Amino acid sequence: MIQFQIDPAQYARTYLASGSTHVELAQQTSDEMGIELGNVERKMFPNTELYIRYGDSIRGKHVFIIQSLAAVDSRSVNDSFMEALIMVDAAKRASASEITVVVPYLAYGRQDRKARGREPISAAAVIRSLQSAGADRIVSVDMHSAQTQATFNGPFDHLTAETLIQAALEERVKGDVEKFVVVSPDGGRAKVAEDYANELGVSVVHMTKSRDREDSSKIARPHVIAGVEGLTCLMIDDIIDTAGTLVSAAETLKRSGAARIITCATHGIFSKPALERLMAAPIDEIIVTNTVPLDEAKKVLGDKLEILSIAPILAQTLTEITTRGSVSKIFNDRNYH
Ligand code: R5P
Repeated sequence: MIQFQIDPAQYARTYLASGSTHVELAQQTSDEMGIELGNVERKMFPNTELYIRYGDSIRGKHVFIIQSLAAVDSRSVNDSFMEALIMVDAAKRASASEITVVVPYLAYGRQDRKARGREPISAAAVIRSLQSAGADRIVSVDMHSAQTQATFNGPFDHLTAETLIQAALEERVKGDVEKFVVVSPDGGRAKVAEDYANELGVSVVHMTKSRDREDSSKIARPHVIAGVEGLTCLMIDDIIDTAGTLVSAAETLKRSGAARIITCATHGIFSKPALERLMAAPIDEIIVTNTVPLDEAKKVLGDKLEILSIAPILAQTLTEITTRGSVSKIFNDRNYH
C-alpha cells in the first residue's frame, strides 16, 4: 500500500464519505490515503425512499463523496444515484466548503447523445443534477465518452485505468510480441486499442459491430476476420455489461483461428446474462477493475476473472486534489480519451 502525504492540517479539512454501493472500495481508498472514512448513517424506508446523515461535523471541510452508480443486491442504479444526490445535498446544507463527487463508474454514461428524436441525454441529466445539488467537482474513471464531462460546469477529473490494464497485459506478453494481437471490439474503442497496441508493441485488428435499433441486445458481427489466426487476442473495452459485445466478438475471433482470447475492461458491470454468457464463451481470461462490487462475478467466474484495484489511483487523485497538485501527472497527461 502506498501512503500518500497530506499534512495534518489538510487531513483535518478533508472528509471522505461513502455511499452504500461500494463501501469496500471507499475503505481501500481511505486506507491508501491514511484518512479515516467518515461516519455516514444510511437507510432505506419501507417505501424505498433513501435517507442519509453525516455522523460527524463537516462544516468547512472538503467532502469527497465516493459512490459508484451501480446496481447491487436489491438496490438499483437509480438508488445509487439518488443516494449520491442526497449526500451532496446534505453536505451542502451542512456547510461543507467544497464537495467532490467521486463516481468510479458513471451509469447512464452511454446515453450521451440523442440517437433518435424525443430521446433524453441521460448522462447530462445525471451530471447536471449532481451540480444543481451542490457538487463543485466530479471525479470519474474511463467514462464511455470523455465529452460527457462538458455537461458539468466546473472541474471534472477524468481518470483512466489504462496503466493498470496495460501492466496486466505486459505481464502476459512478456516480450513475445509476435504471438499477440490487440483487438478493438467496435469502432468506439479503435483509438484506445491502437494506443494499447503501440505501448505493447503488438499489431492491432479492428472489428465492426452493429446493434439492432429496436433490440440493442442483437449484435451483428462478421463471420470471420483476418489477422488473428494462431494468436492470443487482447480485447479491450470500457464496459462489460451484458457481455454481448465481447462474447459475439470472441466467437468471431475463435472461428477465425485465434489461439487464446483475453478480454479487459475498466467496468465489470456483468448484468444478466453476462456471467452465464462469459462462462460459455471461448474466452480464457477476463480482466476488470473494481470500480463496482464484483462479489457475484468472482464467485461465478473464479480463476477466469482477474480484478485490478482502482483504489491506489483514486487515493492518489484525491490526494492531488486535496493538496492542489496535478491529477494529469498521475497519468503522464494521457487521461484524455
Ligand atoms: C459500447 O459501445 C461499449 O463500449 C461497450 O462495448 C458495451 O456497452 C458493452 O455492453 P454489453 O456488454 O452489454 O455488450
